Amino acid sequence: MSAAVKRSVTITLDGSNKSASLPLLSGTIGPDVFDIRKLYADLGVFTFDPGYGQTASCDSKITFIDGDEGVLLYRGYPIEQLAEKSRFLEVCYLLLNGDLPTKEEFGKFEKGVMRHNMLHEQLRSFYNGFRRDAHPMAVMCSVVGALSAFYHDNLDVWDEGARRIAAFRLIAKMPTIAAWAYKYSVGQPFVYPRNELTYSANFLYMFHAVPTEEYKFNPVLAKAMDLILILHADHEQNASTSTVRLAGSTGANPFACIAAGIASLWGPAHGGANEAVLKMLADIGTTANIKPFLDDVKAKDNSTKLMGFGHRVYKNYDPRAKLIQKACHDVLNELGIKDDPLLDLAMELEQIALSDPYFIERKLYPNVDFYSGIILKAMGFPTNMFTALFAVARTVGWVSQWKEMMEDPQQRIGRPRQIYTGSPRRDYVPMTERT
Ligand code: ACO
Repeated sequence: MSAAVKRSVTITLDGSNKSASLPLLSGTIGPDVFDIRKLYADLGVFTFDPGYGQTASCDSKITFIDGDEGVLLYRGYPIEQLAEKSRFLEVCYLLLNGDLPTKEEFGKFEKGVMRHNMLHEQLRSFYNGFRRDAHPMAVMCSVVGALSAFYHDNLDVWDEGARRIAAFRLIAKMPTIAAWAYKYSVGQPFVYPRNELTYSANFLYMFHAVPTEEYKFNPVLAKAMDLILILHADHEQNASTSTVRLAGSTGANPFACIAAGIASLWGPAHGGANEAVLKMLADIGTTANIKPFLDDVKAKDNSTKLMGFGHRVYKNYDPRAKLIQKACHDVLNELGIKDDPLLDLAMELEQIALSDPYFIERKLYPNVDFYSGIILKAMGFPTNMFTALFAVARTVGWVSQWKEMMEDPQQRIGRPRQIYTGSPRRDYVPMTERT
């Protein structure tokens, strides 16, 4: 445990003479946390925290979020600086290894990742098992899970070398897996990766190139792709990362764990929100419909949400949303799109929501998904690929968090408790005697 113990909290159980002294742990930044591991032993009670909003499930050195101030740091570096100055693979190195690489370290790392980007030829045949209209996330879950059937040499999760090679394989192969999911859905031939391209340029190439035409590289779009990947690379203990950690805590292999993370990311409350935002904007249609839509959202008996708004941790603003909104304008300019009705509608919707007491009181701000769909659509990605792109970006975060957990001496199987509210013990009654 690297968190320092500075003070303690004493809890006394009302109506009894039992009390427990719980150490208060301090990280490098962020609020202190009290350690409840001895709570049950000392008091015979444990804690209730549905959704884990108040619970630190691990200590981690990877990513820090200050939700009140809108701060996001990868290994201590502000997301704004990384977005402006760095490249996705450099961020991958940083997340995995803890520090920015030297030129030499980066060259070796880039070469190492890129040489793993091909898929085993037999893995190609998996795609043919899917219906053409299968959702790319369904394909991603299956193909990534199936990697464990191909790489027996790195399934020993307790071996440092095997963990490292699994990390390289996952980061390298994910763009190929996602691009091929798309190619399969539109009936185009799979495009093989090209190692002389950057990670992002190669992804755009595998996605958009066809054998009948020369592929035209657009550095502005490759840079935008890189930015999108950087902004989605990690986000501490979110639902999909916690899923990866929980699956990994059982000793499951990394490919199975990342497949579990992809499944968790798919939900509309998490990574699936980028797809849901575009559907929502299409349903709203015009600015005239914004008010009735927001009235619907605010009606208490309605489950309609303003997709792309709100966040469990950010209660001020999501710094990624600001960066992606700016990138949206850059990409639309580059593509010569003077007016994008979707962007105009989204910006108007944002302004109206941000001045509405419902959203102000609940501290609901645009999150990263509010604008990411608009930029991805402009870059030629179909809506159903948006969450798959998120999965490509988040793989490095999942893998870094999984490695950190496996290398943590206090790692143990994740196993939450519950308050049981079902029937007390009762005896079985034969069916013929039941009334
Ligand atoms: N639209 C309308 N109301 C909302 C929204 C929203 N998008 N988000 C939260 N609220 C309301 C809730 O209904 C609740 O209201 P109440 O206090 O009157 O009951 C209040 O704000 C607090 O919200 P919670 O649901 O308690 O917040 P929680 O932290 O559990 O949920 C979540 C966070 C899931 C992100 C939620 O804000 C949401 O569903 N947003 C829309 C989906 C979305 O954009 N998800 C992407 C998140 S970012 C990511 O995963 C990459």
